[in-house]
Amino acid sequence: MNKALRKAVIAGNWKMNKTPAEAAELVSAIKPLVADADCEVVVCVPYVDLQYVVESCKGTNIHVGAENVHWEESGAFTGEISAPMLTAMGVEYVVIGHSERRTYFGETDDTVQMRVRAALNAGLKPILCVGETLEQREKDITFETIAIQTKIALSGVSEEELDSIIIAYEPVWAIGTGKTATDEQANEVNHFIRGLIADLYSKEAADKFVVQYGGSMNAGNAAGLLAKEDIDGGLIGGASLKPADFAEIVKAASK
Ligand code: 13P
Repeated sequence: MNKALRKAVIAGNWKMNKTPAEAAELVSAIKPLVADADCEVVVCVPYVDLQYVVESCKGTNIHVGAENVHWEESGAFTGEISAPMLTAMGVEYVVIGHSERRTYFGETDDTVQMRVRAALNAGLKPILCVGETLEQREKDITFETIAIQTKIALSGVSEEELDSIIIAYEPVWAIGTGKTATDEQANEVNHFIRGLIADLYSKEAADKFVVQYGGSMNAGNAAGLLAKEDIDGGLIGGASLKPADFAEIVKAASK
């Protein structure tokens, strides 16, 4: 099975939660619970928490990510953070194109592509988020939506660079709603994304490419989702703030 070629990646996306002091508490609770994980464990945290979390995760199996990145290396962009700033802090991953960025902060497919480029140039690993809204699903344009988002975001990315990228399929209607895509719905879109990678690059690239699912993934439903052939991990929101639940998902991915 091709799934064996891929190491699952479970990434927490803390979103706009946790002060540095609260982050310290959360990360120290998570550390021992995931220490024997047989999958990649990542926590993507607010910028203000990065310094502490990076320091605190040194020498552990937890990798650290940011939740966004600007496309320029430096300049007059008040309030923004660049990729070289993140790598200088020891950050390894970055979430790009999350639907909350697209919905509330005017993120477009083009700016997502620019951010992916900047992240790769700096040596960061993008966790690229794609997903359809409820309206798009109801209009039966889920696959078209995913194809457009994926193709634009990956334009200019070489097959070699693809090794540093993960795609997270996050149906917008399943985020923070408690409404999870069924195992089959999630796997169907993940399979479609893998097909896109095969078309754009090669079958070899697609076979080893990690495609996560995200959207109300929790301790109860993770095992079912992660057992699917094309679901190679998860991008976890709410449940990543609960150490026992996050650890349970990591355990499900380690089987
Ligand atoms: P929830 O797990 O809270 O639904 O959030 C998913 C998500 O948006 C992760 O990026």
